[in-house]
Amino acid sequence: NKIPATLIPGDGIGPEIVDVVERVFDALGSPYEWERRQAGLNALEQGGDLLPEATLDSIRRTGLALKGPLTTPVGGGFRSVNVRLREAFQLYANVRPARTIIPGGRYENIDLVLVRENLEGLYVGHEHYVPIDDDPHAVAMATGINTRAGSRRIAQFAFDYAVRNRRRKVTIVHKANVLKALTGLFLETARQVASGYEGRVEVDERIVDACAMQLVLNPWQFDVIVSTNLFGDILSDQIAGLVGGLGMAPGANIGDKAAIFEAVHGSAPDIAGQGKANPSALLLAGALMLDHSGLFNEAQRLRAAIDAVLATDSGRTHDLGGSVSTSAFGDLLTERLRG
Ligand code: NAI
Ligand code: MG
Repeated sequence: NKIPATLIPGDGIGPEIVDVVERVFDALGSPYEWERRQAGLNALEQGGDLLPEATLDSIRRTGLALKGPLTTPVGGGFRSVNVRLREAFQLYANVRPARTIIPGGRYENIDLVLVRENLEGLYVGHEHYVPIDDDPHAVAMATGINTRAGSRRIAQFAFDYAVRNRRRKVTIVHKANVLKALTGLFLETARQVASGYEGRVEVDERIVDACAMQLVLNPWQFDVIVSTNLFGDILSDQIAGLVGGLGMAPGANIGDKAAIFEAVHGSAPDIAGQGKANPSALLLAGALMLDHSGLFNEAQRLRAAIDAVLATDSGRTHDLGGSVSTSAFGDLLTERLRG
């Protein structure tokens, strides 16, 4: 009984790393029945649409997608496909775990999860310029929108996530001392949600700038972090940096009706087609998808295999200072999984 899921190869290094994912999932016992659909620059070139209706249809049906990176053309007024997908499926929670895999980096034993509100805040796209005299861009204005319902939903998600994954603490990150209404509402609502988890999950609060510093000084004091869209965007890249950068960072975009899993990195046009891409981030996104489907065993087997291959010098891709190619990395993983 395979679970139907949408698979989007994407652009640049996307097809190479998605190929590895397909082979590795076969070796895991093929838990998913993939529906291959296009999105991104390749879809635009072939069919005239960055986000074809057939792709949206497939995700509507499966409610589950694994997505390679997409190139959004600069200029031409194209809206980011990633943002369109978030809005189309109301993917309100962006989950970004950061875990040390390769020892010997700047920080050992990092195990953090950042939960970012994905639809509101300063990223709602309400921006405009105000002209003065002959300067059309004399003033720039942006409106942030946070709602009680949206704040409650993301806070609830973060605390439920903590309980489900046996996490000890949730840190609410805000800037309510300056953005008193915008992030004050978020803080007030998150506190209310937190009170429902008393005795089960520890609660902590930080102002975002102090939190950024403390993440560098002592990241081990944190566990799950929940924040608004803009702060969450910035802090999630910061925690990816603690564990060695974008090549290893997976992300999940989760809503009530659909979930889309992806690597945090982009299409890496500078190394596309050269066998230099590290598929680990997308594979780890695949592990998050297995978790989401309740296939915890398979998720654990996949993570353990990735850890084991990366622990060897001969299992490092170019970005990690090694020389193994993208597809040879896939071979090492499939061999290990098939025992
Ligand atoms: P990028 O993440 O594609 O590349 C940044 C640097 O990291 C490059 O030097 C690249 O070679 C390297 N890199 C990235 N992923 C790697 C991997 N798996 N293995 C080895 N090295 C890797 O970011 P950039 O260059 O800013 O963006 C390129 C394109 O990707 C743009 O069109 C951008 O819009 C798109 N993008 C798409 C995202 C998505 O679909 N989720 C996210 C970020 C960017
Ligand atoms: Mg970001």
